Amino acid sequence: MAFLVAFIYPLLQTFLIYHVGAMEVFRVRPFDNISLPCNFSFVDSTDGLSFSWEREDIKEEHEVEDKEFYKFLVGLQDFYLFYPKLIYSFSNNKEQVEERNSLYEGRVWVDEEEIPEGSLALILEQIQFSDEALYICKATNAKGRGQRKMKLIVEDAEEPQVQFITVDETLVAKCISTGWYHMPKVTWHNRKEEDLSSYSTTEILEEKQDGSHRVVSILKYPVLLHEIYTCHIEEDDVLNRPVRSIHKVPKRKYHNMYSHY
Ligand SMILES: *[C@@H]1O[C@H](CO)[C@@H](O)[C@H](O)[C@H]1NC(C)=O
Ligand SMILES: *[C@@H]1O[C@H](CO)[C@@H](O)[C@H](O)[C@H]1NC(C)=O
Repeated sequence: MAFLVAFIYPLLQTFLIYHVGAMEVFRVRPFDNISLPCNFSFVDSTDGLSFSWEREDIKEEHEVEDKEFYKFLVGLQDFYLFYPKLIYSFSNNKEQVEERNSLYEGRVWVDEEEIPEGSLALILEQIQFSDEALYICKATNAKGRGQRKMKLIVEDAEEPQVQFITVDETLVAKCISTGWYHMPKVTWHNRKEEDLSSYSTTEILEEKQDGSHRVVSILKYPVLLHEIYTCHIEEDDVLNRPVRSIHKVPKRKYHNMYSHY
């Protein structure tokens, strides 16, 4: 039996790697900017070029036993279909602004100077949790057409690198957030997963106009150089906590019954 397990496991791994490799995944923290790449060898100028960036919600299949709940979920899906998918479009040598998704208004742009190099990268600024989605870049001109799809994940927590420093001849551990938080909750643990947070102090490092800030946290617990400490930072303000845009999609189970949807 052990032999069988050992045999199946590598196969399973290969399968998973194939799937991860199939779509590029980008990870970003709220309030940061990101450039989503999209290069095509057939693109060498804006002449005769049409391209667009669209979003699609990330969907997760979800088994539903209860028929009423299934109807509710299918209804939600219909609701999301009305949401404009178009984020950016370009044709006739210029950006087209009609029918675009208003959630991205003023936060997206493409560097037109890079188009002759074949790059249609979308710059997305001030990332919000609702930006978590699949992004599709489509381009066409007389020389060809193509499409790229990628996934953007908005991280709701981080574990920045821990540094050791000496303060007043005492060794302490320090971490600095790279993300911006309204109410950062910093927790420290050692290798044994013991919560050392009560021995730490957290201070504001820099603050933005919207009230969000980056923080520095110092762990003063008798710190040992050979110990491993982890510093975990997440948003603790309910109003700024992630609202996931991953939609639960019912599995096919009852599809025949509700085929009119
Ligand atoms: C994002 O881009 C804007 C405009 O270019 C810039 O002002 C801002 O500092 C950038 N934010 C980050 C976190 O890099
Ligand atoms: C895409 O284009 C950009 C800008 O010209 C370039 O920096 C980048 O290396 C290109 N990436 C690929 C995969 O060709």
